[in-house]
Amino acid sequence: MVTKVQKINPDNFIAEELEDACNILRSGGLVAFPTETVYGLGGDAFNPLASSKIYEAKGRPSDNPLIVHIASMEDLYRVADGITDSGLKLAEAFWPGPLTIIFKKKKEVPLSTTGGLSTVAVRMPSHAVAMELIRQSGVCIAAPSANKSGRPSPVKAEHVIDDLDGRIDMVIDGGGTGIGIESSIVDASGSGIVILRPGYITKDMLLNVVDNVTADPAIESRRPKEGITAKAPGMKYRHYAPEGELLIVEGSPSAVAGKINMLVEEKEKEGYKTAVIATDETKDLYKCEIIKSIGSRKNEASIAAGLYGILREMDYLGAQYIYSESFDNDILGGAVMNRMIKAAAYHIVHA
Ligand code: TXA
Ligand code: MG
Repeated sequence: MVTKVQKINPDNFIAEELEDACNILRSGGLVAFPTETVYGLGGDAFNPLASSKIYEAKGRPSDNPLIVHIASMEDLYRVADGITDSGLKLAEAFWPGPLTIIFKKKKEVPLSTTGGLSTVAVRMPSHAVAMELIRQSGVCIAAPSANKSGRPSPVKAEHVIDDLDGRIDMVIDGGGTGIGIESSIVDASGSGIVILRPGYITKDMLLNVVDNVTADPAIESRRPKEGITAKAPGMKYRHYAPEGELLIVEGSPSAVAGKINMLVEEKEKEGYKTAVIATDETKDLYKCEIIKSIGSRKNEASIAAGLYGILREMDYLGAQYIYSESFDNDILGGAVMNRMIKAAAYHIVHA
């Protein structure tokens, strides 16, 4: 299969530019497209053949459900049943935007889209191209992140092409995504609201709209804990990992730099290619051939936006041992570290 790449300027495009993509979606094909979080790999949520193609293209385990992307509140009633008051309040407050809400599913939504579950994850994205694609095609678009299963999520069209070229019909290249980490996921299918995946929409933001918000214990844990399995099936897999071995070092900036410089020297002596993930403020503290800044500690959104690009860059550079600072503080820190810790397969040390 030849994957067509279509460039679209999100700030200035006309409906005709999305015509091919809409036709592909209506006929059961796959189109990767930009959203405000990460690129999604889209197919018709109501077409079981399309969803099975998504699993195949990504190499994704078939018990890991897809998020259904919608463009209007009417679409919500096409896919979800028994919509709870609190879920509806959250939808009204945060859509369009980076929040995914889980409801009971309509029986018409195929089980192949929901990984066999009786619930469905729904999100109305705010990205102009994503919105227009859903609206113009008339298709509710099932879309996981457009990476090969286990790889860092794509924040540029080039990342999608690296992983999925020849496996999908089209990539819409709308440039970089803004937020850079995936949507927050909440379960609103029961009596309270449960956060299943942290993201740009934080617990405090949710609490401004509804009370009774709790977090799935699995997402707050810094170690894989026995007997605690993540309630979002996708959160239990090894994920986002670069090819090299990643170690997170936490502590004061000078202690972290001291520890990392020592580890780098050791590995370099053994002949390995090493790299350091630092920040604008700390990058001069290191001695290593490859030192990359993820963003600025003064602007935590820049750290979230830099995360997946830097993990992929480590692969392009062939880094075998990667040492990273911890990005724990501030509001988005929890969401960033949730991903970093998985990418590091839970390897963290304190300096
Ligand atoms: O920002 C995002 O959410 C991006 C863009 C493309 O919208 N999408 C995304 O999809 O991150 P994906 O497939 O990479 O992650 C979806 C997560 C998985 O962890 C999955 O297990 C969980 O959502 N999920 C989906 N449906 C669910 C359900 N019914 N119950 C519990 N978890 C669910
Ligand atoms: Mg994903």
